[in-house]
Amino acid sequence: MSGFGCIILAAGKGTRFKSDTPKVLHELHGRPILQNLLDAVAEAGFRDPVVVIGHKAGEVRDFLRDKAIAVVQRRQLGTADAVKAGKKYLSRFKDILVLYGDVPLVKAGTIRSLVKEHKASGAACTLLTVNVDDPSGYGRIVRGSSGEVRGIVEDKEAGEEERRIREINVGLYCFGRRDLFEAVKKVGKSKVKKEYYLTDLIEILISDGRKVSAVRTDDTDETMGINSREDLSRAFLALNKRTIKKLTENSVTVMDPLTAYISPDAKIGKDTVVYPFVVIEKNVKVGKRCSIGPFCRLRSGTVLEDDIEIGNFVEVVRSKVKAKSKAKHLTYLGDCLVGREVNIGCGTITANFDGKNKNRTTIGDKARVGSGTIFVAPVKIGKGAVIGAGTVLLKNKNVPDNAVAVGVPARILNKREKG
Ligand code: UD1
Ligand code: CA
Repeated sequence: MSGFGCIILAAGKGTRFKSDTPKVLHELHGRPILQNLLDAVAEAGFRDPVVVIGHKAGEVRDFLRDKAIAVVQRRQLGTADAVKAGKKYLSRFKDILVLYGDVPLVKAGTIRSLVKEHKASGAACTLLTVNVDDPSGYGRIVRGSSGEVRGIVEDKEAGEEERRIREINVGLYCFGRRDLFEAVKKVGKSKVKKEYYLTDLIEILISDGRKVSAVRTDDTDETMGINSREDLSRAFLALNKRTIKKLTENSVTVMDPLTAYISPDAKIGKDTVVYPFVVIEKNVKVGKRCSIGPFCRLRSGTVLEDDIEIGNFVEVVRSKVKAKSKAKHLTYLGDCLVGREVNIGCGTITANFDGKNKNRTTIGDKARVGSGTIFVAPVKIGKGAVIGAGTVLLKNKNVPDNAVAVGVPARILNKREKG
């Protein structure tokens, strides 16, 4: 995005969260709230975003490391003051995109359209608005008789009539850089909250004879601000819905979008079916034509190749399962490599943690694992091996290819005939 700089305001305390963790670092579907914004601006083509930090700055700075330029706002005096903190890093740009760290569901496409409108109209400020059923807490957009934007009134400062306005300020703006930093100097302390509001810039710019332009979206999910934990769970559901919509448009069947929780970072192949009550976390890859669930959890580091069946009450973590294998009931696969065409019987458990280390279990192609097997890792099962029901394979009790293992603890019987 040439000529355009970007600043994300994230110094606020997040008082309504009542948390020891900075609000912007709370997880939203498996990744920090702030990460969602960083992804959106990167996708929209912005490089080196400036992030204003303040409350618990150390923790936020650690998270940001090489992801953004972190600048500190010493005292949280309001959004207008926060912008000033980034001035030094934005001087080379003609225009500036301003985002709020707690409005994390904005899409790259929306940012791009706002930028486009800003460039086309030549306005000093272009802002995003939306109509909502419940505008409480948000800044209200005040329009004149011919529909032109005249200003933004913050909830706490609004009169009775203004409070009834349902068009709100999303907290996503493009500004001409000079206009922004000139106008920001003119903002005074607000009456009720005693803060310097960025939203006062609208009136200031207009009274200076500058043009303000507004783009109205109708996506009330995307524009949601996260101020409380209730908002966080609403945002989680909105992001989940968005993820599932994208997947279903891309040829994955999700039987019950209300009970499937799928990370935006998960990758799922064509013609895979996800049944109800399934959790698929970040960093999970599922191949084509798989059947997932109902009632299962695929955790981070799971890779399923094509034509896999993972059934009810199965948990998989940090494991790879090769094509055409099945684990259909009551199973835990942790730190595993499962070969092709393996059948994992009901109730199979990998005892992967010995109290100190996580250990690996390897199961060869076409092995058949009887119900109720326990693999005490590390352990290796050869190709075509058969494990009898209820077997407990102790550590390093490796089973050769095509051998049969049974009992507690396991004994290895003669090799079985192939086939
Ligand atoms: C803000 C807007 C409001 C808009 C709403 C959208 C202002 C004055 N109001 O209200 O019009 O409808 O967002 O969600 O801008 N921050 C700082 N430093 C500060 C204060 C805030 O960096 O000194 C950051 C916060 O971390 C937050 C963002 O700015 O990410 C917005 O601040 P917040 O206090 O949440 O504003 P709202 O009351 O939600
Ligand atoms: Ca907010």
